[in-house]
This record gives sequence, structure tokens and C-alpha cells, in this order.
Amino acid sequence: MLYFQVLKQFFLRLFARWRSLRYLSLSIACFLSIVLVSWVVMAQSRPVVLRMLIPAPDAPPLAPLVKAFEQQHPNIRIELVEGPNATNLVEDLYTSAFLLGDSPYDLVNMDVVWTPKFAAAGWLMDLSDRVTPAELARFSPVDVAGSRYEDKLYRLPMRSDVGLLYYRKDLLDEAGLQPPETFEQLLQTSKTLQSQGKVPWGYVWQGRQYEGAVAMFVEVLKGYGGFWINPDTKEVGLDRPETVQAINFLRRTINDGVSPPGVTTYVEEDTRRFFQGGQAAFLRSWPYVWTLANAEDSELRGKVGIQPMVHAPGEESGACLGGWGLGISKTTPHPREAWQAVQFFSSVEPLRDFILKEGYTPSIREFFNDPEMVAKYEHFPQMQEAVDNAVLRPPIAQYAQASDILQRYLSAALTNRMSPEVAMQRATGETRRLLGVEG
Ligand code: GLC
Repeated sequence: MLYFQVLKQFFLRLFARWRSLRYLSLSIACFLSIVLVSWVVMAQSRPVVLRMLIPAPDAPPLAPLVKAFEQQHPNIRIELVEGPNATNLVEDLYTSAFLLGDSPYDLVNMDVVWTPKFAAAGWLMDLSDRVTPAELARFSPVDVAGSRYEDKLYRLPMRSDVGLLYYRKDLLDEAGLQPPETFEQLLQTSKTLQSQGKVPWGYVWQGRQYEGAVAMFVEVLKGYGGFWINPDTKEVGLDRPETVQAINFLRRTINDGVSPPGVTTYVEEDTRRFFQGGQAAFLRSWPYVWTLANAEDSELRGKVGIQPMVHAPGEESGACLGGWGLGISKTTPHPREAWQAVQFFSSVEPLRDFILKEGYTPSIREFFNDPEMVAKYEHFPQMQEAVDNAVLRPPIAQYAQASDILQRYLSAALTNRMSPEVAMQRATGETRRLLGVEG
């Protein structure tokens, strides 16, 4: 009997322990499932972050567009990483990020001149199949051409850009002078206004050793009938007499006291401040200057005219094509969200607000003659012609190196460290070696 009592007690305890063990494991399982489910829910509701590096001054104008996109897509956030204010320096940062692998940038805010290099290196997603011909037809053909490499599409244009000559309409009117058409007239008109004491300097342009100087230079070169690199034949035109004439014109602006000596250190914003501060009668720059020069607090409001760059007699004006667009990094872990962003940032309505507010050169063709746009920016129809006839910097995969060679030797010639002839012979030799063509 006792034996049975003991056995019963034993089984009862075992059962009780087993029950509590079962409860314990059940509780642990419940707890773990709750943790797991809430983790999954949290991960799903946490927004995807898309990173993009941009030149710092471009961040504030882009902010309202980013906000509008995030409101439409609450599951996506866009982080604008602010970089230096020189396109080639921003390009260097993207390049090192891509070379290191696993780029932290999902979206690539691209200057038109980066497309061939980035595409050839395999850093960008091919977007060709995602856009219909009808959608592409909304953009200016030159902006689409600048987004392609070997027949594939790698970016969608957000805004175009084109070099222009700004002049002080008020000063020319007072002096009874016409805006200049040739290089020589630009020098003469400047000197007349300067000698009349209307303005301390005549003409400002971007002369620092950087990409902006190259953009400025291709316009002067075209105005003398010269060329830099023929992208189809790889012919290099830097050792031709037209190139030396173009450099000599720029050197003359300084030697004749028309441009300030400091011009060889200026980037776009230095020249804009100089001109907007009433220091010069003429400025070469991009259309963004129009909006700032005509802002309510600008002393030049209503006093500025624009026209194509001057040229040599018998030659045509050169306007450099610039512009920015969006591509997608090939290694992004969020290709779907990145594409949603690219679609939004290149579509008509968001871009309408962006262009209306900032006065950038439209990439969407219909904006040039849109009544609301023209009411605010009367020069837009004229700009369409400039864009259509713009000079493309050579769309070649080695563009960054070719530009670097030109920047170095152009700067040496402009600052009298080398004669234009020697500088351009060396630049030609290096460029030919880069492109693998014989001299
Ligand atoms: C502007 C143009 C760009 C060009 C740069 C040079 O940002 O849009 O294409 O390379 O100026 O400074």
C-alpha cells in the first residue's frame, strides 16, 4: 500500500512539474512570437531611406520636391547628403564610393557629363525598358542624348542648363550702346562703359581650374570655330589655331583690364556676386543667375538682359549644355523605391513647381512656352533655342580625365605659367594618349 502511495506522489509531482514546464515553454514560445511579429511589423513600417549626394547649394531648392515625394510615399525617405559646390568634386566622391563597392548612395544626382563614365563603369541601372518613347519625347532631345550611353538610358533629366551672356541693359541704354555680338565688341563695349565710370570692370567669367572653366571655355572655342574632342572620331582639336585664339581672347580680357585679375580663381557663385554687386557689365553664366539677379532684394532687378555668347565674325555662338538628372545606383538594396523616386522627380507636375520657383532651364519641352512660365520668365522661349543648339562636352567614357587635362593646361595658360601654344600642345598630347589615338 505504502508503495502505491509513494508511486502516486511521485507521478503527481512529476505531472505538476511537467505542467509547469509546459506552461513555461509555452510562455517562452508566446513571448518569442510576439517579439518576432512586432519586429516584422516594425521593420515593415520603418521607412526605406534613399540616399543621394548633391552639391550643397542645390539642396535647399530640392527640399520642397523631396517633401512632396515623401508625402506621397510615406514608406520612403530621401536623405540629401550635401557635397562640395563643384561638379567634379561631387563626381569624385561618387566615384570613390562606387570604387569601394557597396555605395552608400541609392540615387545618383548626375551632371550631364558624368553619364558615359558612370554607365561604362557599370555603376548605374539601365533604365531603358522602364520609359516609353512617348515619355521620353517630353524632354529636350539634347537632355535625353546626355542621359544615354551606347544606346541605353541611364538617367532621367530633372533640369537642363545652358551657358548665356548676361549684360547690364540699363548701362547699355544709358550709354546708347547695343549688346555686343563679337568678342571684339565685348571688349570694346566693356572698355567704353568702364572709361565712362559706369562700372569698374567689364566682363566676368569662371576661370578657376575646375569643370566650370571647361564649360565656359567650350563656348569661346566654338565661337572661334574650334573644337575640343570629336566623340566619334576621337580627333583632338586643342592644338589648332582656333584654340589658341580662344585662350588669347580670355587672356586679353585680363591684360586689357576688362576682367579682374582674380577671375582665374572664380567659380559661378563668385562671378554672380561680382556681377550682382554692380562690379561688372557682362557675365557668362547659367540661367539660375536670372532668378537671383531679379530677386526683390537684388540691386539689379529689372536691369539685366541675356543673349547667346559672343563669337568671332563669321562664326556662331557656342552655348555649353549642362544639366542634372537622376540615375539609380546598381548596388542599391532598394531598386523599387529608387525607381519610384526617379519617376516622381522627372515627372511634369513636380518639375513644374520646381522650375517655376527656381527658374532653372526646363528639361521638359512644353515648359519653355507654357504661359505661366513665360509670365514669370520671359526669356524661356529664347532659351529653348539656346538649348537646342547647345554644345555637348564630349560624351566619352574618359570624360573626367580629358576634362582634368584641359583644366590643368587651360589654367596654366590663363595664369601665364605657360604660353597658350605650349600648354595646348601638351594638352593635345596627353588627351591623344588618353584616348589611344596617334598624333
Ligand atoms: C552647371 C551645369 C553643369 C556643369 C557645371 C560646371 O552646374 O549644369 O553641367 O558641369 O555647371 O560648373
